[in-house]
Amino acid sequence: MVVYWTLVVLSVLYYNTNGASINQAAPTLDPTLACSVDGHLVPNGQNFTIKINGPCFTFKCVNRAYIPIEFKCPYGDTCLAIGSNVSTSQCITQQCQKNGNYVGYNLIKDGCPGFGNTCIDVNATYQDGCTTYKCLKNDNTYQLAPVEWGCRFRNTCLKAGHTEKSQCQVTRCEKRGDVIGMYPIQNGCQYGDGQCLNVGEQGLYKCVLYSCETQNINGLTYQTTKPIAAMCEDSQGMCHSNGGSMQMIINGNITASCNCMVNGLNVGYQCSG
Ligand SMILES: *[C@@H]1O[C@H](CO)[C@@H](O)[C@H](O)[C@H]1NC(C)=O
Ligand SMILES: *[C@@H]1O[C@H](CO)[C@@H](O)[C@H](O)[C@H]1NC(C)=O
Ligand SMILES: *[C@@H]1O[C@H](CO)[C@@H](O)[C@H](O)[C@H]1NC(C)=O
Ligand SMILES: *[C@@H]1O[C@H](CO)[C@@H](O)[C@H](O)[C@H]1NC(C)=O
Repeated sequence: MVVYWTLVVLSVLYYNTNGASINQAAPTLDPTLACSVDGHLVPNGQNFTIKINGPCFTFKCVNRAYIPIEFKCPYGDTCLAIGSNVSTSQCITQQCQKNGNYVGYNLIKDGCPGFGNTCIDVNATYQDGCTTYKCLKNDNTYQLAPVEWGCRFRNTCLKAGHTEKSQCQVTRCEKRGDVIGMYPIQNGCQYGDGQCLNVGEQGLYKCVLYSCETQNINGLTYQTTKPIAAMCEDSQGMCHSNGGSMQMIINGNITASCNCMVNGLNVGYQCSG
């Protein structure tokens, strides 16, 4: 962003006024009343510009004096009047102003372009999804910078570093490279009523022994719960190995004496009585 400030040089402005005023001026070709401007003569009563102040400051020659009559701001090939606004970008507006002896552009509005044609004021924050952005101004550059990020999880935003446990997997809200997400930091296997096993651990549920193993399929690692041994469960929930004798309730109320038969992961009973 360029801010133009042009100095109205006082010594030029009040050069050789001889107490003249615009009201007294009458255009005349009298060379003794003409103004010397940038090496040539401007007739009395005529408007002119001078090199040092550019094409947007107009003076009038009044009895050899430079009388300032119009100040404007340069804009491309034209001049804009004081009070004119110029937008140099979507969120930046400058205004042509006169300030003491200076005429130029002054910033009257700035900010960062947001999403969807909006402007965010300097130092204001903007929330997009789980990321909070802040409009930062540094010298004359504006940046909508992420200042806080989080992870979307079940319709809420979790803060960075937050962990969640679900189905024996612990995930954490992290930023890896440019990708923000819930990354697994601990994996396990679910078995039984929802208990968890870590990889390599074993657990017993209803007389079946489970282990938690990892499997690598196409480069992706999965945890699987595997039954690795079975025993017979009696009416009290006690476990019996192959050949063991045990009491079983059959049809709700008949207690029978049985033998446990285990074949691999299959269990059976042989009962009498
Ligand atoms: C000088 O400029 C003023 C203001 O723009 C204008 O009103 C006037 O007519 C001009 N005079 C001449 C001689 O061009
Ligand atoms: C320039 O912008 C200011 C602030 O938005 C406004 O008050 C003023 O009227 C505008 N000037 C013009 C000429 O549109
Ligand atoms: C923005 O914040 C910085 C640092 O706190 C401060 O220096 C600056 O004046 C603020 N700018 C605006 C426009 O609030
Ligand atoms: C066992 O259950 C049967 C049918 O459910 C019932 O008729 C019988 O009375 C019950 N016997 C005992 C001892 O509870």
